Amino acid sequence: MSKPLIFALSKGRILEETLPLLADAGIEPAESLDKSRKLLFDTNLENVKLVMLRAVDVPTYVQLGAADLGVAGRDVLLEHGADGLYEPLDLRISRCRLMTAGIEGQSPGRARRRVATKFVNLARRYYAEQGIQAEVIKLYGAMELAPLMNLADEIVDIVDTGNTLRANGMAPRELIADISTRLVVNKASMTMQHERLMPLIEQLRRAVEVRN
Ligand code: ATP
Ligand code: PRP
Ligand code: MG
Repeated sequence: MSKPLIFALSKGRILEETLPLLADAGIEPAESLDKSRKLLFDTNLENVKLVMLRAVDVPTYVQLGAADLGVAGRDVLLEHGADGLYEPLDLRISRCRLMTAGIEGQSPGRARRRVATKFVNLARRYYAEQGIQAEVIKLYGAMELAPLMNLADEIVDIVDTGNTLRANGMAPRELIADISTRLVVNKASMTMQHERLMPLIEQLRRAVEVRN
């Protein structure tokens, strides 16, 4: 039998919306994912396996060919870079905005702005494009705390309802990008496994169209 196709899924909030979409596209895990500590699963499709990854690790697995295709937020893809990846489909789930934000009522005054974010590459690129001098500080979470604690003048983070910002006395400033979840495919797999990948991509495309 040929090597199975490996489909990398992002754990966390994206997974909750991905599984129903996969089911609509005819792809289902062979056993319940949440009752297990396993990370690699068979599916109802012969020769298609699912791997469960931290959302930030999906582009790495797909880029290096350890997975043939995967599901990742546009924010994560913008931060990681798209070398070696095709992005054939917007899955239109986990939609949110990537924004700058700061303390409510305060405007960014400093000549050189201190910016806290987990999206350091993306933030450096954004401020450079805007012609704004920025010192980018890497954090791994709770970005909304950084300006309150005087660690930064501004943050770059995901905003959905705005509740997290409001609850911490912060307000959104500039929109950097609209975010949704994307299907990504390894470029070499797209060539070598074209006949196996295309039906999967088309099934997913149809499932997305039916919903939107
Ligand atoms: P981890 O929980 O592993 O530290 P994470 O914060 O990136 O990582 P999630 O919170 O599950 O993991 O987010 C995964 C993706 O979901 C993000 O990359 C983004 O595309 C999207 N996302 C994050 N926060 C929201 C939100 N509040 N509303 C909608 N989509 C979101
Ligand atoms: C995400 C994001 C924001 C929040 C935005 O955090 O980093 O903090 O959601 O959503 P809102 O505008 O609806 O409040 P998450 O809940 O994923 O926590 P995390 O820091 O563990 O990633
Ligand atoms: Mg999160």
